[in-house]
Amino acid sequence: MKLTSRSVALVPLVATAAAVVVGATLIAPAPANAATTLGAAAQQSGRYFGTAVAANKLSDSTYTGILNREFDMVTAENEMKIDATEPNQNQFSYGNADRIVNHARNQGKRVRGHTLAWHSQQPGWMQNMSGTALRNAMLNHVTQVATYYRGKIYAWDVVNEAFADGSSGARRDSNLQRTGNDWIEAAFRAARAADPGAKLCYNDYNTDDWTHAKTQAVYRMVQDFKSRGVPIDCVGLQSHFNPQSPVPSNYQTTLQNFANLGVDVQITELDIEGSGSAQASNYDRVTRACLAVSRCTGITVWGIRDTDSWRASGTPLLFDGNGNKKAAYNSVLDALNAGGPGPTTTTTTTTTTTTTTTNNPGPGGCTASVSLNQWGEGFVATIKVTAGSSALRGWTVTTTLSNGTVTNSWSANRSGNSGTINWSNVDYNGSVAAGQSTEFGFQGTGSGSGLNPSCTAS
Ligand code: XIL
Repeated sequence: MKLTSRSVALVPLVATAAAVVVGATLIAPAPANAATTLGAAAQQSGRYFGTAVAANKLSDSTYTGILNREFDMVTAENEMKIDATEPNQNQFSYGNADRIVNHARNQGKRVRGHTLAWHSQQPGWMQNMSGTALRNAMLNHVTQVATYYRGKIYAWDVVNEAFADGSSGARRDSNLQRTGNDWIEAAFRAARAADPGAKLCYNDYNTDDWTHAKTQAVYRMVQDFKSRGVPIDCVGLQSHFNPQSPVPSNYQTTLQNFANLGVDVQITELDIEGSGSAQASNYDRVTRACLAVSRCTGITVWGIRDTDSWRASGTPLLFDGNGNKKAAYNSVLDALNAGGPGPTTTTTTTTTTTTTTTNNPGPGGCTASVSLNQWGEGFVATIKVTAGSSALRGWTVTTTLSNGTVTNSWSANRSGNSGTINWSNVDYNGSVAAGQSTEFGFQGTGSGSGLNPSCTAS
């Protein structure tokens, strides 16, 4: 018999008369109703447990057997990346991504979208681009892919790995970064416009240790986005761990501090190199850290079997090459069954709060102001609508766009895409209490100057 770490502990007991009964009790320390799969165990506290999936492995029955049984969230390992979905400019290719999305959805699993904007795994045509052409191509990619999958994605890694390693706390240099520091927020706004129901995440690695400059830099960006109303709902910590980059002692602090900014936190690409009880204990720590943070909504491991891993030689996953559960699997399952506070439920369709008042029914005046983010030949305009001394039940804003064209917009209906444009509230932001504000926005090519917005209550 192959001894597991649990059965080893029972060896002295099997010599006693009560061995069977006592042994049975000890061998199953979890409650009788403990869940027996990772996904079901995570669901007990309202979380998910996911894995990265490769389309070319869906014909492997051992692989799909484990996938279907254990996991309730799926991330395409490579198939939704830019080189896969837009191999030639404006020619989109979704075959392999669809295979994964359809498999997941047919099995009742949800999907994390990975990833819309990244310096890596860009198709050749994009690698060779720069400046305004690249900015527009990136925004077009975000819009097209997020629109294609609209309604099918739980959360998008909108931007991946945009910060530099080391002590600088700076952005990573890349062709995207060189289009202007606001490329990240432009990508998030385009993603929100394309799929308002998806959670929008910023995802990175080496952001696990709270004291690291990179962690701090991402934290400040998210804090800034939240303070300015840039649409962001979650932060993904990839969490690829190995002896050079171990699970930090302050990991839970990092998760909690991000969550305290008002975003969900997700562990998005977990793998921990090692074996046996040392690896199992690291997996246990990571799982418990997530469970201790109410806005840590789920964990995804970066592959199923060790042999499926991008770092196969480090045997970093929960199943061995034959598909057998490892000690690390048992420690994760036990930790999930031990539970934790459930995650906070959040809605993601708007970043503004509107309050309806019933004692001020009459229309009052309103004002509109614009905050313009202009780069080269493109821009994002955010229009703030503020109610006067009476509550608004609806509003119309008129703008003038003399030298530009709107390519997409959010949180308002619009009459056209250039010249004089009338914008009116959508159903969730027409009611604005006296003195309060709501925002809508749009993105365009050309110049966004001279918009001169004016507001009328309706
Ligand atoms: C990796 C895949 O696992 C590999 O198959 C591929 O060759 C390279 O990319 N950070 C990420 C993931 O966000 O997309 C990467 O996935 C691993 C690091």
